[in-house]
This record gives sequence, C-alpha cells and structure tokens, in this order.
Amino acid sequence: MPEYLLAIDQGTTSSRAIAFTRDGHAAASSGRELPQIYPASGWVEHDPERIWDDVRHCVRETLSQLEDGSRIAAIGVTNQRETTVLWDRRSGRPLHNAIVWQDRRTAADCEALAEHEDRIAERTGLLLDPYFSATKLAWLLKTVPGARAAAEAGELAFGTIDSFLLWRLTEGRVHATDASNAARTLLFNIHTQQWDDELLALFDIPRSLLPEVRDSATDFGQTRLFGDLMPITGMAGDQQAATVGQACFEPGMVKSTYGTGCFMVMNTGSLALRSRHRLLTTVAYRLDGVPTYAVEGSIFIAGAAVQWLRDALKLIEHAGDTEGLARQVDSTGGVYLVPAFTGLGAPYWDPLARGAITGLTRDSGISHIVRAALESVCYQSRDLLDAMRADGASPASIRVDGGMVANDWLMQFLADMLGVDVERPGTSETTALGAAWLAGLGCGWYRDLAELSALWRRQARFVPAMAEDRRATLYAGWLKAVAKTRDTDG
Ligand code: G3P
Repeated sequence: MPEYLLAIDQGTTSSRAIAFTRDGHAAASSGRELPQIYPASGWVEHDPERIWDDVRHCVRETLSQLEDGSRIAAIGVTNQRETTVLWDRRSGRPLHNAIVWQDRRTAADCEALAEHEDRIAERTGLLLDPYFSATKLAWLLKTVPGARAAAEAGELAFGTIDSFLLWRLTEGRVHATDASNAARTLLFNIHTQQWDDELLALFDIPRSLLPEVRDSATDFGQTRLFGDLMPITGMAGDQQAATVGQACFEPGMVKSTYGTGCFMVMNTGSLALRSRHRLLTTVAYRLDGVPTYAVEGSIFIAGAAVQWLRDALKLIEHAGDTEGLARQVDSTGGVYLVPAFTGLGAPYWDPLARGAITGLTRDSGISHIVRAALESVCYQSRDLLDAMRADGASPASIRVDGGMVANDWLMQFLADMLGVDVERPGTSETTALGAAWLAGLGCGWYRDLAELSALWRRQARFVPAMAEDRRATLYAGWLKAVAKTRDTDG
C-alpha cells in the first residue's frame, strides 16, 4: 500500500497541499491563491474561513490524485507566521479577519512601548515591531466589541495560522502550536520555552487565550475530516520549515527563501545568539524538548518587486521575462531600485523609508530597471549576510529556495554579490518538504536529522565569479541608494 506524508503549506498569498514519498518526491499537489484584504493604508487582512476552505479543498484535491488504497502516514502543517486569529472556543468562529504579518496598524502601539524594547528583545529575540503577533492580538481585544470580556471569561482562543488550522483539523480538540511559531508572537520566552507572564502583562493578554506550545515534531492530534484517521505530527512556521527542508541542521548553515519577501535563516544550534545588528533570534525547530536556535533576517520585498514591475509599471508580462531582460545589458548603468514599498526590514527596520529608483539617465531603459529590481534582491541579501557576518558568522555557502531561484542569472549575481557559493536544491518545494519531514520525524518514519540530511539533493551550484573591486563598487552604490530612501526630510 503506497504511503505518503502530507504537507499543508498555508502561505501569505496561497494555500497548498503536497503529498511526499519517503524519499522526498512530491507525488501530488494542489494550490489556491488567497485574496488579500486591504481595509486601510498599511492594513492587511485575510479571511480565516476562506483559508480554511482553501486548505480543505487543497487536501481533498491532493488526496484525489493519489492511487486508490494510498495511506497518509502523517500530516505536517507549515504556515505564514505571526498572522493573528482570535476565535470563539465554542463556535470555532473567528471574531475578526486575521491580521496579517505585513499589517502596520499597530506601529503607534509599538512606539508607545519603546522603553521596554530591550527587555522584550532579551526574552523573545525579536524587536518591538508591528510585524509580530502581540500588538495585533492586543488590538483585536481592544477593538472588537465584547472581545476583552469574552477573553477574560476564557471563551476565546488566540492562534497563529498553524493553531487555527490545527483547531479546525481536530474539530476543536487541540489548541496547540509549536515552538517555532510561538517564537514569533512577542509573548514567548525563547530561553525558558514558556509563555512569559511579564510580557503577557505588558501587552495585556490573558493567558487563557494561548495555545499549548509543543515540539515541532510530535503528536498534535488526529484529523478525521478526510476519510481515514490521519495523525498530525509536524508543525513549524514556514521559514523554519524551509530551514528543515534545506537540511540546515548544523550551526552556521544558512538558507534563504525568495518569495514575496526574502527570509535568510542561519542555524546557531543550542546558542540563542543575540544579534548586535538588528537580526532576529528565533527558534528554528524544537525536537524532544530541545530548541535549536537561528538568527533570521527578513526582507519585506523580493519577488514582490517583480510583481510590481509586472502589475503596476507593466514593464513585463510575466515574471519569467526578467531573466532575458537582465541579460540584455551588461549593467544597470548606475540605476538602483530600492523596493522599500512598505518600509525597510532587516537590518534597517525603518517603517518610514519609501521606494526609489535612483541614477536614471537619458539612456536608462526597461532592461536597466528590470535588472535593477533583480539586483535589489541580491543587495538586500548582502545586507543580511553582512549583518550575520558582523555577528560573527562566516558561512561558505547558502542554500536557496522559493519561486525566484529558477532564474539562473539572478542566482549567479547573488553568488557574485554575497561572495559565497549559492546552492539550489533539487526540489522547489522546500517549505512543504520541511513540514513533511517534521511530520515524518514525529510519526517515526525517519530516525533523526542525519537521515534527512542524506535525502537533501543539490541541483545546481553558483560560484562567485565577479572581481572584488566591481562587487565593492556596486554594493557601495546600493548603500548610497538606500540612504536616499531614508532621507525623510526630502
Ligand atoms: O514572517 C512571514 C513569513 O512567514 C511569510 O512567508 O512565504 O507566506 O510570504 P510567506
């Protein structure tokens, strides 16, 4: 009887389900785009019921593609992180749309707590930023009529998308999350691995709202919604799941995912390294009660810059056109595109910065601008890697994944700009694979991480080939362009 691990990957812009064989081959899959809701400038929401419908649809469609008699050995859940849902324990109904990680509505609330930032960072590894869940949850409790009283009475549940899906999958039997997701809420002490009472008091969050925090590979209950009883044994935030799917299990190993944004994560083993360069400290995964830590650099706009070229500027028809256009010219001719459309993430954390195209001349054309957009992804990656280096890391290579890494030109420029080898794996579904692998560890399919490492396959390696002085000149130009976007006095 054929057996599979089923990954549910609920991302910012789409939901997917993928069935993997034991050797990591994607045997069946299904995906659905998720509409974004923008109720006000800087606000981003999702409809949790739509998310749930899409996930169920994707699972059913994936299962229908498998041979008759197939069995799902276990389910792994991975998800967009930080996005906040508040629901009624009795009816299971959300009280409000989910507030998405990109949402900036709580910027002023964060500023009001600025004096506590050090204490918060010390415990959570995070910065005080609207990106994370705590101020979003506080906003919901403050704003939704009756929410505060119902929360105090123990009638409500909070969760990031993983917890919400788990609640629905288990029909309200399990309210839990894993340590990698809990680590993104601003409420979880990453050193003690407990919800932190002082932080709960600071953000005015009743403890009764919170899910139980479990390992990333363990028993999360079972679902019977898809016919046979299926155990759920893996869970991780999507960037942490990609870290697992890239088999970055040794301290110093780095993965970088290029989707809407870009997230670079370096395994730091048992050390919760506090960055001195505004990177985040987070939990990569927790197995048998033992957390493995990571530092993470988050960039808000990577692939989204290409979408902007396509949808707003209409310079290209398909994202895939960018490679050919970038190759048409030897350089951008001094043009830089800084995609600070929603401010700048790591290591700048500047919500007021705004995008710019600099260095335009009479000769600048579409290919220069398109190339500058692609290059911006590499320069931002260099910002992150330099911050990691300044914190003492010296990786010799990085493992990449996400939609953009199919672009060979981009991968070569990335290697050139970073000055390290760029390794592209055989599968493009690293995030889902990581969730499946965690589920496989949780259900006993795999013995240990070494077994998973042996399954990781490299498909291509890009080796730095750019002369050092050219690399330095180009990057210096980028830093100047970034400085211009931060000149708020105009
Ligand atoms: O922290 C946000 C991140 O988890 C979102 O990832 O791939 O859904 O855009 P993605």
